[in-house]
Amino acid sequence: MTEIDNRIAPHPPLREYYPTEEARRRRVDGMFDASAGHYDWINSVMSLGSGEWYRRQALARAGVAPGMRVLDVGSGTGVVAAIEQDMVGEQGLVVALDPSRGMLAQACERGVRRVAQGLGENLPFRSGLFDRVSMSYALRHVGDLRSLFEEFARVLQPGGQLLILEITRPRGRLGLALLAFYMKRVVPTLTRVFRRSPEAQELMQYYWDTIETCVPPETIMQAMQQAGLERVERQVTFGIFSEYRASRPVDGVGQRNREVKQ
Ligand SMILES: C[S@@+](CC[C@H](N)C(=O)[O-])C[C@H]1O[C@@H](n2cnc3c(N)ncnc32)[C@H](O)[C@@H]1O
Repeated sequence: MTEIDNRIAPHPPLREYYPTEEARRRRVDGMFDASAGHYDWINSVMSLGSGEWYRRQALARAGVAPGMRVLDVGSGTGVVAAIEQDMVGEQGLVVALDPSRGMLAQACERGVRRVAQGLGENLPFRSGLFDRVSMSYALRHVGDLRSLFEEFARVLQPGGQLLILEITRPRGRLGLALLAFYMKRVVPTLTRVFRRSPEAQELMQYYWDTIETCVPPETIMQAMQQAGLERVERQVTFGIFSEYRASRPVDGVGQRNREVKQ
């Protein structure tokens, strides 16, 4: 487990990109800001076009339904938030949260109606506000899984559910080699040729480095349990696409956090 000062970092420091934790935050935001206009294109290449379909299926499995209040954390260009808006309808509420202004601007352009700038580890919302919290492909970019999951448990209403989508490093050598080749060679080359963006190319390199060094699923699930979430489970597709689900217990859990952050 990558535990630093009581924090559970999703991956060890990647010193070739930043010298300190403070610098990491600025660097990551800078990379996403600079690549925001390219992100949807990169995303469609990385997911071989299945991205939106897969995300919608996962949201349906997590029970997102008309009238619900949903928070999407690390929303990026709003791919998931836009689907959620469609699923909850006019009576529901969807908030897309992200630290990158560039990404939020793209989300607004997509038609996401409510956006907020902020970090998943320190959510600017009152306790128990949301029926569902989602986070897709952003977990590797937070500073601390412990405070992230405590915040998720806090803002969920009792019985509310969490959905996290993330890419997991394959356990087998062949799967790892194939994914590394695709992410380190194919995607950056296509990005260079078709987008002519050194920033987007660098983001793809960083993306892979965080996947390769990310803590295993067991650590992520343990951190969820330690934050007081229950019914923690993981479903994995092709050994790569992880779908984590968890719930805030109907009573008891999140109490400690609620006392701290009302
Ligand atoms: C790879 S994008 C994912 C976007 C979108 N969720 C999707 O499914 O395509 C990761 C996003 O996480 C955001 N992010 C980085 N650090 C974060 C943090 N500490 N809390 C919340 N979001 C964060 C980035 O700004 C970026 O927009």
